[in-house]
Amino acid sequence: MCGIIGYIGKREAFPFLLNGLAKLEYRGYDSAGVALLSDELCIQKEIGKLSEIQFEEEEGKIGIAHVRWATHGRVSKENAHPHFDCKNEIAIVHNGIIENHRELKAGLVKRGHVFTSDTDSEVVSHLIEEFSAEGCNFEDAVINALKLLEGSYTLLAIKSGENKIVGARKGSRSLTLGISEQAIFPASDVLAFLEWTNKVVYLKSEDVFVADDELGLCIYNLAEDRIVVRPIDTVKCDAEEVKKGEFDHLMLKEISEQDETILRALQQNEEIVQGICDKMRNAAGTFFIGCGSSYNACLTGSYLFSKAAKLHVNPVLASEFENYEHFLTDKTLVFAVSQSGETADVLDAANAAKRKGSRVVGIVNRDGSILARESDGQLFMNSGPEICVLSTKTYTSQVVLMEMLAYALAGKYEEGLKKIGSLYLDIYKLTSRSMREHLAKLAAILYDKRDIYLIGRGAQYATALEAALKIKEVSYIHAEAFAGGELKHGPLALIEDGVPCIVFVSNDNKSKILSNAEEIKSRGGYIIGVASEREEIFDYWIKVPEAEELNPIIQIIPMQVLAYQLAVYRGLDPDKPRNLAKSVTVT
Ligand code: M6R
Repeated sequence: MCGIIGYIGKREAFPFLLNGLAKLEYRGYDSAGVALLSDELCIQKEIGKLSEIQFEEEEGKIGIAHVRWATHGRVSKENAHPHFDCKNEIAIVHNGIIENHRELKAGLVKRGHVFTSDTDSEVVSHLIEEFSAEGCNFEDAVINALKLLEGSYTLLAIKSGENKIVGARKGSRSLTLGISEQAIFPASDVLAFLEWTNKVVYLKSEDVFVADDELGLCIYNLAEDRIVVRPIDTVKCDAEEVKKGEFDHLMLKEISEQDETILRALQQNEEIVQGICDKMRNAAGTFFIGCGSSYNACLTGSYLFSKAAKLHVNPVLASEFENYEHFLTDKTLVFAVSQSGETADVLDAANAAKRKGSRVVGIVNRDGSILARESDGQLFMNSGPEICVLSTKTYTSQVVLMEMLAYALAGKYEEGLKKIGSLYLDIYKLTSRSMREHLAKLAAILYDKRDIYLIGRGAQYATALEAALKIKEVSYIHAEAFAGGELKHGPLALIEDGVPCIVFVSNDNKSKILSNAEEIKSRGGYIIGVASEREEIFDYWIKVPEAEELNPIIQIIPMQVLAYQLAVYRGLDPDKPRNLAKSVTVT
């Protein structure tokens, strides 16, 4: 889940590397580091966010850099990347996990290598050192080292005296090369270099590349044991989209984009949508898998398909999917839902399905991502880059796609498109300044609460889960969602005077959910209603239009704004919540 970038080209590397790191910081912000190659190798690294680190501008037209989300080894300067060999001549940056690092390290230590970190990554620089000492040239030393690694990774390496970057990708981590007339930029994500080029080479698993200072590029595939040619593609997204613009935070910007992003999600090829629906009708078992918000969208979909299309699908957390794999056959259809298209749990589940001959449809935002490239069919969210760690606009786009499929399955595709499209103005109003102020007042009431509970029924239960996730991940307040009917089976014991509970009201379950709210109110709870009409029971009312089966798109939006306001009220950075990262490439 770390981010890596390299630069080799005709200009000074440092500004490109720092700018690229800023774009990759959503992948990890425990520490950052840079290695530059001129006459000698200079390495700087520090713990903290980029904005807290003062790097000195060093010279060098070749460099590599890293932002870390700690997995092996605590957050410390020693564990920050780049890592080097015993002589400080080789530097590497790495994302992923080297599963056999303990055995490799034990051997290296026995042979006299001195380690300075607790990371799994450092074995790589020492292995390259060892093969170099045996007489291998730099690229062969890297290749020989890679052959010893088990796990899934991307990495970049540079060495004193060698005017080149050698890098590699294996398994579920992505590595892309930005290609311009001035430079080659290897990076975990195109966003890192999009300002300078939109020409990219997507590396495949087990590709090793060598880029030299004449901008020569050679790619060798370890599994095929031969030099390979990868095409140069053009990326569609725009560098401007990743800036905050007039907003204080990316989270608010991305929330505010949803009036448009729901419309972009609707821009699908009808033939593809209908083809997917036919596959759903004919499949012997359909799974919807995802993690976090993407799973909540899958759960929402399961209610919609059941109600609107009378079709049963199984929503499963991707990290739990291995428990269901024995149901997979070549007649099973698996929807893998992931904004990033990089989430390791989702990729593992999709690969397991493919091994059983099941068809995998990716519902994905990033078009160059591994899931987008490796699934059998795709529906794109078209949300543009989402940088804030929290999913907001991509969540509603996922739900839009579920709604669209549900309408199409029910034979109401055109009607569905019109209905969803007509939410444009409502969403605009729900993100307007007056709504933000109304929710800021609520944040002032809630900001110091220990717990917030949320209840819903049917698809609103999934909305409650998503709203709870938003609140807890950005404000660090404990927020927990329940299906309204479950309160009496235990959670009511948690309610005492003043405990806030957010209630999602929809016309089709109004009387039942209001009587659940009554159960809370009569035990002293403070009721916040998300509803089209004010009810006597509400202590605070968040007015939303009644959108019937489309309520899951509408009702989550004020919750995203509330979560944002809570973070701001508590003095937290909503774009970079503690301990989290945007792309979760570890299982
Ligand atoms: O990229 P993905 O959609 O696969 O990511 C899945 C989750 O990691 C993600 O939704 C996460 O829960 C977000 N932080 C939620 O806001």
